Amino acid sequence: MARIAPSILSADYAHLDHDMKMVESVIDWYHIDVMDGHFVPNITIGPPVVKKLRPISDKYFDCHLMITNPEKYLPAFAEAGANGCSVHLEVGNTDDLIRQMRELKIDVGLAVNPATPFESCEPFLEQLDYLLLMTVVPGFGGQAFISDVIPKIELARKIIDKNEYKCEIQVDGGIDPNTAPLAAKAGATNFVAGNAIFAQPDPIAAAQAIRAAVA
Ligand code: DX5
Ligand code: ZN
Repeated sequence: MARIAPSILSADYAHLDHDMKMVESVIDWYHIDVMDGHFVPNITIGPPVVKKLRPISDKYFDCHLMITNPEKYLPAFAEAGANGCSVHLEVGNTDDLIRQMRELKIDVGLAVNPATPFESCEPFLEQLDYLLLMTVVPGFGGQAFISDVIPKIELARKIIDKNEYKCEIQVDGGIDPNTAPLAAKAGATNFVAGNAIFAQPDPIAAAQAIRAAVA
């Protein structure tokens, strides 16, 4: 079953409660993009905002940590109510970060940039709840889907199925009703979309269109 995860990066930051509640009935996860101005050239939000958002929905909060030194902040995200966090493979210390997330009792996600080869994340797949394969270079919403990532999705699907790992494959970046089916066909089951939902005139219909496109 596919999961649709709207990225609140494209929502109205002054009215997040309104925008989140608007799509609540047609989505599965909320994808919360955390950027630090170091790992990526953009700054968004941190644990205090996640904590304030927590009471507005019981849905899964998926915090995508595009930050260096995530070990310093993981406890605060867990305490704020994140259900799962994804840390980037490119920041290093992946084994320690996975252990820390398990101790904090949050789901373990590992995010991988488009240029990072599959071989670098393969050793960790067995330990993950979800693998986030970036389909844009992280930092900004509204970028074009990088189709060069498709073979990496196919490879991840093959290894996960062969070994019967429980790891979900999430894709993030440029996902819309045209690109989502390409990622779904390659093996993705969890679809993050920012612009294609919140920048549309009817975000509910837009989320439903992505779900229909991957059904
Ligand atoms: C990119 C973020 C994405 C982004 C996706 O750095 O990780 O989650 O919000 O936005 P769209 O769907 O607009 O590409
Ligand atoms: Zn993201």
